[in-house]
Amino acid sequence: MIEQFREEYSFLSNFYPAVLTFEGKTYLNSEAAYQAAKCVDESEKEQFTGLTADESKRLGGKVALRSDWDEVKQDVMRAVVYAKFTQNRYLAEWLLKTGERYLQEGNRWNDTFWGVNIKTGEGENHLGKILMSLREEFRKSGLPESTDYYLYKAQPTEHIRILFGDITQSDAACIVNPANKTLLGGGGADGAIHMAAGRELREECRKFGGCNTGEAKITKGYALKADFVIHTVGPHYPEENAPALLEQSYRNSLDLAKQHRIGSIAFPAISTGKYSYPKKEAVEIAVKTVLAWQAENSDYVMDVAFITTDLGIYRLFCEQFD
Ligand code: APR
Repeated sequence: MIEQFREEYSFLSNFYPAVLTFEGKTYLNSEAAYQAAKCVDESEKEQFTGLTADESKRLGGKVALRSDWDEVKQDVMRAVVYAKFTQNRYLAEWLLKTGERYLQEGNRWNDTFWGVNIKTGEGENHLGKILMSLREEFRKSGLPESTDYYLYKAQPTEHIRILFGDITQSDAACIVNPANKTLLGGGGADGAIHMAAGRELREECRKFGGCNTGEAKITKGYALKADFVIHTVGPHYPEENAPALLEQSYRNSLDLAKQHRIGSIAFPAISTGKYSYPKKEAVEIAVKTVLAWQAENSDYVMDVAFITTDLGIYRLFCEQFD
């Protein structure tokens, strides 16, 4: 049984940053699409399109519900979850990898309709049941054709791209994993990368015996599209020398990629998630460091992509070049 949708199973949660289009609008996660469906008119739904799951849950508690909401909410949830998994093929593959295991949305916030209260074991687990029935459907009728995942693309310079999407889906030769010092996986992008790469990634990481902040280590990509993963540990804001350490994370990753004759690399916005680095400053350091490194290494072509599942960060990257 998978009792909670966390760490490597966080993709099962409606809070997972998977972009989807639902009823003609594009949302950053299935929670936002579900909350938007409560609304009566289109302009209200539009408010949910750029929100994180947390933000949309809060806003969803304030909107005037459509009159038939209680009758339709289960069908809406099924349609939203179906859209998430059919528009992001890799998520459907991960869902199938859960095999026959029972999927339970165990939670501590006492949602006993969509999930189960993890302490008391009580709840109807409707979300878990929807996921299991979808898994059965994929098993029987096969996976949907994958769609082009990057909804937003910007190419501010010849060798820099800015993409809105999931780094595990990047077609770069190497992706950068914003890891922790153990290098043994975690949540966020680290969890998604390990989930997509498979268990061998963690096995190879074990040999390093950890990684200091600002340093970078390289492994194979295994089941990822990328041939390599460069693991780097960004500063946990507001630790001492955070700006210098963040710059080192980008520089050491680029140097290591060059040493391995890698020609294209995809970076997430290192430290801007769990490590709480202020997004604007972190993006400024990322862009300045990459531009400086490319100028210092003009003898070597390195195509850099900044990939993010956070629309606000996507916009910050674009603003850096305006
Ligand atoms: N694709 C692209 N970007 C992602 C993805 C993804 N699949 N998942 C998360 N992100 C974004 C986050 O929105 C954030 O902007 O990557 C940025 C970095 O967030 P984190 O993954 O939380 O990484 P970081 O802030 O560096 O914290 C590292 O978190 O996951 C743990 O084990 C990791 O302890 C380490 C810590």
